[in-house]
Amino acid sequence: MRYKVDFLVIGSGIAGLSYALKVAQYGKVCMLTKADASESSTKYAQGGIAAVMYSPDSYEKHIKDTLIAGAGLCDENAVRITITESTERIKELIQWGANFDKKNTGAFDLAKEGGHSEFRILHHQDNTGFEIERALLEKARLHPNIEIKENHFTIDLLTQHHLGEEVTKRRGDIKCFGAYVMDKTSKTIDTYLAKITMLCTGGLGNVYNTTTNPIIATGDGCAMVHRAKGVLQDMEFIQFHPTSLYNPAEKPSFLITEAMRGAGGILKTANGVAFMEKYDKRKELAPRDIVTRAIDSEMKYRGEDYVYLDCRQIDKNEIMHHFPNIYAKCLEIGINITKDMIPVVPAAHFSCGGIKVNENAQSTIENLYASGECSFTGLHGANRLASNSLLESLVYSHRAFINSIQKVKMAEFCDNIPDWNDDGMVLNEEISLVTQTEKELQLIMSNYVGIIRSDLRLKRAFDRIGLIYKETENLYKQSVLTPKLCELRNLIANSYLIIKMAMQRKESIGLHYSTDYPNRS
Ligand code: FAD
Ligand code: SIN
Repeated sequence: MRYKVDFLVIGSGIAGLSYALKVAQYGKVCMLTKADASESSTKYAQGGIAAVMYSPDSYEKHIKDTLIAGAGLCDENAVRITITESTERIKELIQWGANFDKKNTGAFDLAKEGGHSEFRILHHQDNTGFEIERALLEKARLHPNIEIKENHFTIDLLTQHHLGEEVTKRRGDIKCFGAYVMDKTSKTIDTYLAKITMLCTGGLGNVYNTTTNPIIATGDGCAMVHRAKGVLQDMEFIQFHPTSLYNPAEKPSFLITEAMRGAGGILKTANGVAFMEKYDKRKELAPRDIVTRAIDSEMKYRGEDYVYLDCRQIDKNEIMHHFPNIYAKCLEIGINITKDMIPVVPAAHFSCGGIKVNENAQSTIENLYASGECSFTGLHGANRLASNSLLESLVYSHRAFINSIQKVKMAEFCDNIPDWNDDGMVLNEEISLVTQTEKELQLIMSNYVGIIRSDLRLKRAFDRIGLIYKETENLYKQSVLTPKLCELRNLIANSYLIIKMAMQRKESIGLHYSTDYPNRS
């Protein structure tokens, strides 16, 4: 089948939904999402969304905190844009129906997280993302100009390459004409021609074997742009969240929000000794990279698989009101957090790099925009400040909206794009090979490209991923496509980009720590 739409939005998290709701006033929107529409990292966000709401907080304070966390690598313009537009975007989110917790006075009950100098995190208990996703999805489902297609897997972007032109290198004139998309129910691969394409495909946590990210987070958008010869940046900066629940049988790892440390939770070793003071005077509320390395170092030094987060000193009422889901989850596995310490371990959580975009969320490919975790705006630098990513999605999706409603007037459909050629054979062994290879890749990335890196480890990872790449490309050329095989290719492309950019960075900064270059250059 061939479809024609004004705006093709790929992804139904906060970035895709907030963009779709706005552009839908100006044209037909088709939103593609590879699972159920609500399945996204957005849905699992716990801590909340950072924004400047009242004094004594100020834009300058939030800007300063973001720049400090980013360790000197933030793009100050992106930081200023995001923070100074935060209040407006939050008001809009509330108008769309998202609820945030309030105090008895009627003021928002703002929380504090690592690296923030003020209480500025709006939250809905400890399931803020669920509430945001609910509100936005409800609105989008009711909009007459938005069609949401669930279980539709985007395979690749359409560019001149599909018109028979050989696009082997990055160049300034690549255009996006839409995407090839697999309907997972009918198993057909359809051609979606679009005037504007918006990538909101989220993160890539599943490159690692321990992650807080849902299974949809396989870096598809980044891989598609890489294949289309667009520019990606800062992929080496992978944020490991310090505290995911240590429960090895469970995937993805359940997050224990940083807001619990904001509320007074203390990190301790197995014998009950607090250790953060040794590492940073901000202790539990130091930026994430510092807390994660401190935990990693304690675990290695003591030969233990986890440390503890002690929340027993937090008021029981506060636990029940602010953290009811974490309380219930821990209780399920026999931990009463008002009486027992919580075993925690770092897990891959957020990609600071991604598809390079300008201040209007335009990628280096014409008529292709990107917003949310798949994009690189320059906001996060070498380390993201907690709860800045939901905000970034709202701000850049808004900016993409303003810019793309002008662009759409000039853009045309490219009718010459051929339909997908799906010649191939079904290999019986394919499914188990794909699953095995994915596990292999995740182990390589976790062992050699994790929290602590070195030249030798990166080289090992690079060589091993090279082999996996060759094997998988052979399989891809011979097989009928499946989403799992496409995701594996995408995970490999992301791993390659992370390793390559990590190898180029000959220093330790923010989230990238190399034992060969322990200092900043
Ligand atoms: P997502 O919400 O991940 O949505 C991606 C969408 O793209 C999904 O609908 C998916 O199905 C679709 N998709 C992907 N590939 C394809 C494809 N090939 N074809 C079709 N569809 C595709 N940030 C904060 O600011 N505050 C927090 O408190 C916070 N807590 C977090 C807690 C957890 C457990 C996690 C995992 C993340 C948290 N983050 C938090 C980070 C934040 O949630 C994400 O960065 C943000 O939600 C990303 O939104 P997004 O719209 O870019 O992507
Ligand atoms: C958390 O709640 O700790 C996650 C916040 C974030 O990732 O920004």
